[in-house]
Amino acid sequence: MKSIVIYSSRTGNTKQVAEAILTALPEGTACVPVNEAPADLTAYDIVFMGFWADQGNADKAAQAVLKRIDTDKVALFATLGVPPMLPHAKETMVAATGLLPKGQTPVGTFMCQGKVDPKVIEMMYKMFPEGHPHGRSAERDERHRLGATHPDENDLANAVAFAKEVMANLG
Ligand SMILES: Cc1cc2nc3c(=O)[nH]c(=O)nc-3n(C[C@H](O)[C@H](O)[C@H](O)COP(=O)(O)O)c2cc1C
Repeated sequence: MKSIVIYSSRTGNTKQVAEAILTALPEGTACVPVNEAPADLTAYDIVFMGFWADQGNADKAAQAVLKRIDTDKVALFATLGVPPMLPHAKETMVAATGLLPKGQTPVGTFMCQGKVDPKVIEMMYKMFPEGHPHGRSAERDERHRLGATHPDENDLANAVAFAKEVMANLG
């Protein structure tokens, strides 16, 4: 079973998750940033593809790779600014899954919260007035405060468990 981990990460959260996933895969499995994704993925039995959430979808660099993953088996993972149980998280994963070129249903998906770059938070608060969904509010401040420690040890342990389960199910 030849596998590869490909990830897109701007500030390192998704990279951390990718590296945790790698520890659950056979020794020698490649783990590459999105700009080094092999042109031909047909050599792999399964692709673990990771992205960060950008406007309710995979980030642009990840989208380009998602659209050309032609292996039958794909596992998707992502980090995002909100807790993974929120509808926005599920919608983001659905949007990213919809980019797969053969309509594949992922053999597994994993999401966890990832701290948002403080510069981006500041920019959003400047751009949008209080009361706007992206503007400053007590709820948003609290979400960012809680998010600031993610991915944490528990998230990374969950990512390892996810990868182990995917591999076990493939047999
Ligand atoms: C431009 C931009 C857009 C973002 N859009 C979303 C979004 O739509 N939903 C969300 O939950 N998080 C969003 N985030 C938060 C990131 O997805 C999150 O911080 C992620 O963990 C970053 O991963 P990375 O460290 O691998 O780059 C956005 C962040 C940036 C910088």
